[in-house]
Amino acid sequence: MRSLLVTGGCGFIGSNFILYQLEHYPQQRIVNLDKLTYAGNPENLAEVEDDRRYHFVHGDICDRAAVVELLREHAVEAVVNFAAESHVDRSILDSGPFVRTNVQGVTALMDACREAGVQRFVQISTDEVYGSLGPTGRFTEQTPLAPNSPYAASKAAADLLVRSYFQTFGFPAIITRCSNNYGPRQFPEKLIPLFIANALADEPLPVYGRGENVRDWIHVTDHCRGIDAALRRGRPGEVYNFGGDCELRNIDLTRRLLALLGKPESLIRFVEDRPGHDWRYAIDASKAKRELGWEPTIRFEDGLRDTITWYREHADWVERVRSGEYRSYYERQYGRRLSRSVG
Ligand code: NAD
Ligand code: DAU
Repeated sequence: MRSLLVTGGCGFIGSNFILYQLEHYPQQRIVNLDKLTYAGNPENLAEVEDDRRYHFVHGDICDRAAVVELLREHAVEAVVNFAAESHVDRSILDSGPFVRTNVQGVTALMDACREAGVQRFVQISTDEVYGSLGPTGRFTEQTPLAPNSPYAASKAAADLLVRSYFQTFGFPAIITRCSNNYGPRQFPEKLIPLFIANALADEPLPVYGRGENVRDWIHVTDHCRGIDAALRRGRPGEVYNFGGDCELRNIDLTRRLLALLGKPESLIRFVEDRPGHDWRYAIDASKAKRELGWEPTIRFEDGLRDTITWYREHADWVERVRSGEYRSYYERQYGRRLSRSVG
């Protein structure tokens, strides 16, 4: 697999994945196709900009003709699709871009891959397609799809389209579904980087509801290792779950973050809940372990400490990302919530 197309490679997981590939596979050539939405940041890949194995293209996965040309020009053998609108709260404010990129974009991308004869396609999906759990149980690959947010519904729609392309055309696609990632280069709209950035600036941390919702946290490098295993050893037509075996209530995570940052709990604000807020996610990753030999390796304490260090050492990155569009989003999402917070 000499030539790989990564889409959405300027975002959080995509950039970590490209760095992982270039570090571990000296012969690997990578083309990164990214639309550079608010979440796409070429700075994430500044360290490989001059690497001759890496090539960036500014473009949209919805543009089928341009993608076909790109696939042919670079004799691409495999595609890993990270390109997406990825934030649940934004999908509640406006679902349009989610349907466009996450549904129509995936279809256009698969059509382009079929036309150009791509041999392997990995669709990066999410555990959110399974919906919400009660206090017990875990999502397996057999759990029925029951998405609750417009974001999750758009990802589930894509998964069904990928499945249909495998069944109908024998399209060589694999789907991966992972739990909540954390680590360097994550846009500070998601819980962990948002709370680190706010706490470092002594700004309030808006915890939805009473902070009792549970997420299963995984370090982005462990996720990248899983995607790599699925890409190289996964069976077409299969779905693989990845999770961190690390369930935490949001309020406990928030307190832990504040303690590590040396900041007071008085920064916590309980605010109006996210509509349709999934209660709990937990992943059963035994299939990935059995079939791909994959397991998470980074302990949450270590990963979280390193992540905090990364954000402390990249204050300029945070500063640049938190200007412009971010400010208007923040006001729209949190302005009213914070003014009515309940302590
Ligand atoms: P992100 O928002 O950080 O990055 C998304 C990237 O896609 C950006 O670089 C953006 O510019 C690009 N993009 C958006 N629309 C595009 C288009 N039409 N054409 C080309 N590029 C486009 O997202 P992320 O957190 O890195 O997530 C990557 C993928 O992983 C998503 O598909 C997401 O659903 C999935 N996922 C994320 C998590 C998580 O915890 N972050 C967990 C499981 C799965
Ligand atoms: O599970 C995988 C999913 O994880 C990915 O598919 C998504 O792309 C990714 O964004 C993430 O979704 P979540 O909605 O779980 O992540 P988020 O960081 O937005 O929220 C994590 C939890 O924290 C959730 O219960 C909501 C809560 N939260 C979040 C924000 C942004 C707050 O309490 N306050 C906040 O300000």
